[in-house]
Amino acid sequence: MVVGNLKMYWNTAEEAETYANDWQSLWSGSEGSDDSCRLVLCPPAVFTDRLRLRLPEGIALGAQDVSWEPAGAYTGEVSSALLAAVGAEYVIVGHSERRRLHGETDETVGRKTSAAVRDGLRAIVCIGETEEERRAGKAVTRVREQLSGILPGIPRDMAERIIIAYEPLWAIGTDTTPTAGDVHEMEQAIRTLLEESFGLAAESVPVLYGGSVDADNARELCIGSGMDGALVGRQSLAPRELLAIYRACRP
Ligand code: PGA
Repeated sequence: MVVGNLKMYWNTAEEAETYANDWQSLWSGSEGSDDSCRLVLCPPAVFTDRLRLRLPEGIALGAQDVSWEPAGAYTGEVSSALLAAVGAEYVIVGHSERRRLHGETDETVGRKTSAAVRDGLRAIVCIGETEEERRAGKAVTRVREQLSGILPGIPRDMAERIIIAYEPLWAIGTDTTPTAGDVHEMEQAIRTLLEESFGLAAESVPVLYGGSVDADNARELCIGSGMDGALVGRQSLAPRELLAIYRACRP
C-alpha cells in the first residue's frame, strides 16, 4: 500500500485538476486492479470531490485529518461522514505536523482514530519518535507509548480499518532516513503491540514506513524492512515519482 500525503501544497483548483489529468495518462487499468497494493491519495480536503471525478479508477482517496465529533456546532471541523460524502475512504490521523503545530496529543489522536473507524473510514495512524528520543535509545518506547494510547479504543472487529504509519520525525522532509535495519526493528515492535491488542486480526493491519521516501529507497525501506508500503510526502506531488514508488513497493 502506498499513500500520498499532498499536505497544503496546492493553491488553485487548476493544480488539482492538472494532477488528476497526469494520473489519467500515467495509470494503466491493470495497475489499479492489483488489490495487494493500493494507491491512496490524500489531497487538501476541499479538492477531494474534484479528484474523485477526475482520477482514473483504482486510485483511492483519503483525507489528512478528521473531527472526532460526528456532527454539531464545531466550527471549522470536518466529520468522517462529510469526508466519506466527498469520496474519502481513508484518513490520516496524528501526522507529526498536526501534533507539533496544532497541539494534537496521543489522546486526541486516539479519539479521532476511534471516530474514523466507527464511521467506516480506514484510519492511517501516524506514530514516530523525535531525534532526541532516538539518540537516547527511547525510539521503541515512544512508539509503544503512542500506540498504547490509541489501540485500546479500537474494537477487535474493526482492526481491519487500521493502518499504522511509522514516521520518525527527523526523517520527515529532511532527506535523511533510518537504515532498513532500524525500520525492521520498529516494524517488529509495532506488530507485537498490534497482536497484543487485536490477536489474529493484527495480520490484517498494514504497517507503513514514511519519511523522505523516494523511488530509489522505497523498496529497501518500505518492503525490505518487513513493512507493507509507504506514506509519501513531497514525492507524491509528482505523479511520475509517486508511481515509481508505488511500482517499487508492489509485490
Ligand atoms: P516526506 O513527508 O516524504 O516529504 O518526508 C512524509 C510525510 O510527511 O508523511
